Amino acid sequence: MTTLYDEIQEVRSIYPDRHSAVLPALRLAQSRYGGWLPPEALREVAEALDETPAYVQSVASFYDMFHLEPVGRHLVEVCTNLSCALVGAQQVLETFEQELGIRPGETSDDGEFTLRAIECAGGCGRAPVVVVDERYREPVRPEDVPAIVEELRGGD
Ligand code: FES
Repeated sequence: MTTLYDEIQEVRSIYPDRHSAVLPALRLAQSRYGGWLPPEALREVAEALDETPAYVQSVASFYDMFHLEPVGRHLVEVCTNLSCALVGAQQVLETFEQELGIRPGETSDDGEFTLRAIECAGGCGRAPVVVVDERYREPVRPEDVPAIVEELRGGD
């Protein structure tokens, strides 16, 4: 079985500068560690890239797509930035709050869902944008939310 270290070495070999491999390496680690980056994951990335854990953590903490706390099995991210806000993102977010029984930044008690409000997801032309488990749903209206939640509850 390929280890995380091996995977990172493969990615590292693509880039002339090892610093450039930090983002893809963090992605690989996050995927291996169940959607978040515990301290041991940051240490593994640092070791594989000959970086310090502090440097790797500084990169991971800068980008919104990396999670330094555990997340639920499903990660629901609602863009609340300007373009989405203008076409009802707040109502979409509030409908997710009602449907899931959690506030932005929280994870449901059963560990199934984490809800987040995020900055621009880069899909402004089809706002409001919701990112569910890294897949874009766009545009999402408040009335679409119950079906999305039902789909996620019924899915694997
Ligand atoms: S403002 Fe929501 S995707 Fe850009």
